[in-house]
Amino acid sequence: MEKSSSYFKILFITLTSFFLIANSKRLKPEEPCKRLVLYYHDILFNVTNSANATSANISNPPSVLGDYNFGMLVVFDDPITKDRNLVSTPVARAQGFYLYDMKSKYNAWFAYTLVFNSSEYNGTLNIMGADIIEEKTRDLSIVGGTGDFFMSRGVVTLSTDAVEGLGYFCLKMDIKLYECY
Ligand SMILES: *[C@@H]1O[C@H](CO)[C@@H](O)[C@H](O)[C@H]1NC(C)=O
Ligand SMILES: *[C@@H]1O[C@H](CO)[C@@H](O)[C@H](O)[C@H]1NC(C)=O
Ligand SMILES: *[C@@H]1O[C@H](CO)[C@@H](O)[C@H](O)[C@H]1NC(C)=O
Ligand SMILES: *[C@@H]1O[C@H](CO)[C@@H](O)[C@H](O)[C@H]1NC(C)=O
Ligand SMILES: *[C@@H]1O[C@H](CO)[C@@H](O)[C@H](O)[C@H]1NC(C)=O
Repeated sequence: MEKSSSYFKILFITLTSFFLIANSKRLKPEEPCKRLVLYYHDILFNVTNSANATSANISNPPSVLGDYNFGMLVVFDDPITKDRNLVSTPVARAQGFYLYDMKSKYNAWFAYTLVFNSSEYNGTLNIMGADIIEEKTRDLSIVGGTGDFFMSRGVVTLSTDAVEGLGYFCLKMDIKLYECY
């Protein structure tokens, strides 16, 4: 009795560790189940560019809170392209907002949905997290998805591809999904 029960215990522990190893393997950062590189273009409304603006500052924070737009909220409906070119045919839209959340330097927080509506991809990915602007690359969470991205989760690595004053910036989005269905 004693012997066979400890035999089963060892078998159980061995099997459990196999499952844990198998599961941890699935989450290796270098092995996403799907990877997409896309570009995000943001043209901020500046009163005279209403035809081309894709985002708008909708807040009016007190100016005494420093020089880094602290409290400013920008809502966007931005075109997403496969290459760095702003005028390339969009393959999706990024709809959501970012806000500036530090008094001592430029720092932002993003929450948006990538909306795909084409024969290639049809569905959404929901993204949120800190955009620590001074970092060369920033990782945001992909918290879920719908349609072709049903229940997907992962990480998007953002890097700034281009900046033109306050009016325009482009982000490279390296989208890595670790859960695909
Ligand atoms: C607004 O943006 C447009 C297009 O980039 C530019 O031509 C114009 O000078 C800008 N206006 C102001 C007030 O900054
Ligand atoms: C929109 O962009 C186009 C192409 O860059 C430019 O010709 C046009 O003047 C812009 N319109 C506005 C209102 O900024
Ligand atoms: C944002 O909009 C408010 C209200 O129109 C304005 O007072 C403020 O200067 C704007 N901030 C920036 C950085 O454009
Ligand atoms: C998605 O694409 C279809 C087919 O091109 C179009 O009829 C539909 O209006 C689009 N939906 C959205 C939300 O853009
Ligand atoms: C995307 O999926 C929705 C919902 O299933 C459908 O109504 C729409 O026509 C699809 N769009 C395309 C471009 O296939």
